[in-house]
Amino acid sequence: MVNSTIPVIAIDGPGGSGKGTIAYRIAGRLGFHLLDSGAIYRIIGLAARQGDVPLHDEPALATLTESLDIAFKLTDNPENPLSIWLNAQDVTLQIRTNQAGVDASIVAPLASVREVVMKLQRSFRQAPGLVADGRDMGTVVFTDAAVKVYLTATAEERAKRRYKQLKDKDISVSLQELLKSIQIRDELDMKRDVAPLRAAPDAVIIDSTALSTSEVFQQVLTIVEGKLG
Ligand code: C5P
Repeated sequence: MVNSTIPVIAIDGPGGSGKGTIAYRIAGRLGFHLLDSGAIYRIIGLAARQGDVPLHDEPALATLTESLDIAFKLTDNPENPLSIWLNAQDVTLQIRTNQAGVDASIVAPLASVREVVMKLQRSFRQAPGLVADGRDMGTVVFTDAAVKVYLTATAEERAKRRYKQLKDKDISVSLQELLKSIQIRDELDMKRDVAPLRAAPDAVIIDSTALSTSEVFQQVLTIVEGKLG
């Protein structure tokens, strides 16, 4: 049973804006649960490819999504703090490829897939609280979130960050290719009809282009402490 009195901190924004890292650090500081909602769409894309389900076949994808056994486990590896499991298989690295990101944004606009995912996302709302990052955490899934942050940065800066992240994980990709796919995903995420990426009217917008991770963390923590005490 989902308890709407449990506080949620929603951190939304485009890919590569740093919201995953900030969400992880805020959750760690507060001892809250963590929901990486983008990982769910990445898993659906991966499961579809593994099961030869076409990425545009909405009914088949919704059925597939309902059947998935998804688990998130906290690790003690700061490089990969969250390990992601699909049907008892560790898919942490597989879902982080550039292709998995693009596949995720192809399945994400499908309304019946999002409906199944929404139930799963809401089940993460457990005491003492939840930090949820994604595209529509504050606008659709947790509209009553106690804190809403919209974290953004220029596409060029986000491509550079993703490049470094993937390189650190020994995943090879060109910077130019990354910038292109970030621009494609921004377009897909912002222009879709269902749950488009945008800041909630009551979100605090932070542009992190010229900020370090620690500076963003401090800003978000100040907002959270102001709201939650
Ligand atoms: O955040 P991440 O890059 O892992 O998200 C992958 C894709 O999943 C996004 O480009 C977007 O299309 C989709 N997504 C979404 N709603 C969310 C989180 C992610 O549509 N809440």
